[in-house]
Amino acid sequence: MAISVENSVFHLETAHTLYQMKVDSFGILNHLWYGARTDCCMDYLLDYPDVGFAGNPYEAGNRRTYSLNSLPLEYAAGGAGDYRVPAVSVTHADGSGALDLRFREYRIRQGKYEIPGLPAVYAEDDEAETLEIILEDALSSVEISLLYGVLPGEDVITRAAIVKNNGNSGIKINRVHSLCMDIPRGEWEWIHFHGRHAMERQMERSPLIHGIQENGSTRGTSSHQQNPAVLLCEKGCTETNGFCMGAALMYSGGFQTQIERDQVDQVRWVMGINPDTFAWKLDPGECFHAPEVILSCSGQGMGELTHRFHHVIRHHVCRGEYKLSQRPVLINNWEATYFDFDDAKIERIAEQAAELGIDMLVLDDGWFGKRDDDMSGLGDWSVNETKLRGGLGRLIGRINEMGMKFGLWFEPEMVSEDSELYRQHPDWAIRIPGRNPVRGRYQLVLDMSRPEVVEHLYQVMSRMLRENHIEYVKWDMNRSICDWYTAKLPAERQAEMPHRYVLGLYQLLDRLTGEFPHVLFEGCSGGGGRFDAGMLYYCPQIWCSDNTDGHDRTLIQYGTSFFYPVSTVGAHVSAVPNHQTGRVTALGTRGTVAMAGTFGYELDLNMLSREEKEQVALQVKNYKAHQDLIHNGRYYRLSNPFEENGAAWAFVSEDRNKVLIQGVVFRAAANVLRMRLRLAGLKADAVYRSVQDGRTYTGQALMTGGILLPEIKGDDAAFEICLEEV
Ligand code: GLA
Repeated sequence: MAISVENSVFHLETAHTLYQMKVDSFGILNHLWYGARTDCCMDYLLDYPDVGFAGNPYEAGNRRTYSLNSLPLEYAAGGAGDYRVPAVSVTHADGSGALDLRFREYRIRQGKYEIPGLPAVYAEDDEAETLEIILEDALSSVEISLLYGVLPGEDVITRAAIVKNNGNSGIKINRVHSLCMDIPRGEWEWIHFHGRHAMERQMERSPLIHGIQENGSTRGTSSHQQNPAVLLCEKGCTETNGFCMGAALMYSGGFQTQIERDQVDQVRWVMGINPDTFAWKLDPGECFHAPEVILSCSGQGMGELTHRFHHVIRHHVCRGEYKLSQRPVLINNWEATYFDFDDAKIERIAEQAAELGIDMLVLDDGWFGKRDDDMSGLGDWSVNETKLRGGLGRLIGRINEMGMKFGLWFEPEMVSEDSELYRQHPDWAIRIPGRNPVRGRYQLVLDMSRPEVVEHLYQVMSRMLRENHIEYVKWDMNRSICDWYTAKLPAERQAEMPHRYVLGLYQLLDRLTGEFPHVLFEGCSGGGGRFDAGMLYYCPQIWCSDNTDGHDRTLIQYGTSFFYPVSTVGAHVSAVPNHQTGRVTALGTRGTVAMAGTFGYELDLNMLSREEKEQVALQVKNYKAHQDLIHNGRYYRLSNPFEENGAAWAFVSEDRNKVLIQGVVFRAAANVLRMRLRLAGLKADAVYRSVQDGRTYTGQALMTGGILLPEIKGDDAAFEICLEEV
């Protein structure tokens, strides 16, 4: 039994972790523990200090030491004596805002719960158990169901919450977070991933200040600027040592993480939909479902935490036929042609790609409507026959004859003012009546909260997929959203729109991915602007960044790797000088870096020299030879490229008899010792032989003394070492 209850204590056990809560004599659900298994009740750690200006519930009488402001609460509500950041806050019909949440009942069931309309971790009934704890505010009859999905084999616990209004009058939900975790003791640091377009997920680690630290997005997407996945680690925690916890929100809209270090150095961590762009009117009898958060923790450092997230995302989040299978090596025409192409040009690129062993051609932006630049055409998803003479069917036929698959780019959620769709349905674009809409990349956003918009997109896209042999879809989204207003909702419900947009998006994705399981969907939002566990439920890979520079990509992919599996990271070799940075890196470097992902090319292969083409053919062969190890093996970060002179990583097969070490040394230097890398995750007593130079080492030596890199010349030079157990 992964879930058990004894003397009002809930035990949630996974292979290596324990999560504990307890209902106390006042009916308050206290958080006791999340960490290594202890095999005992951790309530002895509860403390009842008499802290000044901490109020006491009325029933506590003269017990000044019993305060909701100091206790570790499992799910904290605002307005009832706890002054830390709340997980949930509502406004009642009378305008008051307190929620006094007390335990009412619980249920345990086999299998993993689902969330209507939202992505969630899925599992077979024998792989997971669900605990539902119901808390209630007696006066208003507002009820909060806390959902816990326990996946013992994955060392993962998921959480979600449902607000239910059992009262007689409507309430407004001002915030409802999916995660609330109180941690009374320890010295903590948080790691989050910030960035910008073409430089996503830059890792930042900082000690917690007193007060609230926060990250989030109000852009309607999870965003380039912050990512909805955060780590909390004990000071000194490294890749291989120390305790850390991670939380990844399965949500692709605006989110918020807040971490508060309070007056007595306790920490509260909340995460969920961003309350700055959210409110929800809940009429009597209605429910609201908050999205899910995936939680894991590790006592063996961040590397182990990463393995747990990679595994659960690959096996219990990603879906569809491609979830665990080999991904096609693709050639994308975007950086090769931008908008300037016709069928002949695309065919020439495809012909060359086919010769070099590439599996699929992806036709990017510009194939539809009137689309010769980014100022028009979005919304008109029918082929532009001036560019593609003879239509899409003819082009796909030619590509298929070359032995290649065909994939196509869409940006379904958008509309250009200069488009047929906009001329027919100007009211479908998001804008506030009487105000000019904000434009982003010249375009407007379709109101995905409206069912007729979702239905239209479904009809248009499903027809395209039915009528053409399309085996891959790149689903792009190229601006942030604002001007939140929808003609379909009354004034008092307008604040629901950002979440309703996400629900509309998920509904469309669900219908299309459900109906076309053979199609590989790749997510994208100006590169990695919507790289989150929610999108991964529909798209098993996401274009990681519009920045394809071999150097910058090592930093972007390093940050991405903490939570997201290598098989989800779209990574392509592009031309030099790089189109985003102007930097020149060697073809070998670009190839090595792109191998740590779902591999492909994004350049005109016809422009390469004969030697370069030969090198590309070898890269494709090398990637295919290692793809199983890269996607199914364990991924180890061997250096921190933000602090060290290089990025290094390794893939170790599940049976630990094969290792692929790769990386890039940033700055070359004269008269220096060769770089040394200490490996991890090997069999200590096994002997490994280097495929490159035949040298043998014991696993123990490689994990303690490390391995020396070959001598490296030139900046941003890549290396690769393969080891096999003898
Ligand atoms: C975004 C994507 C690119 C490309 C362009 C096309 O920026 O991230 O890969 O598809 O749009 O307009």
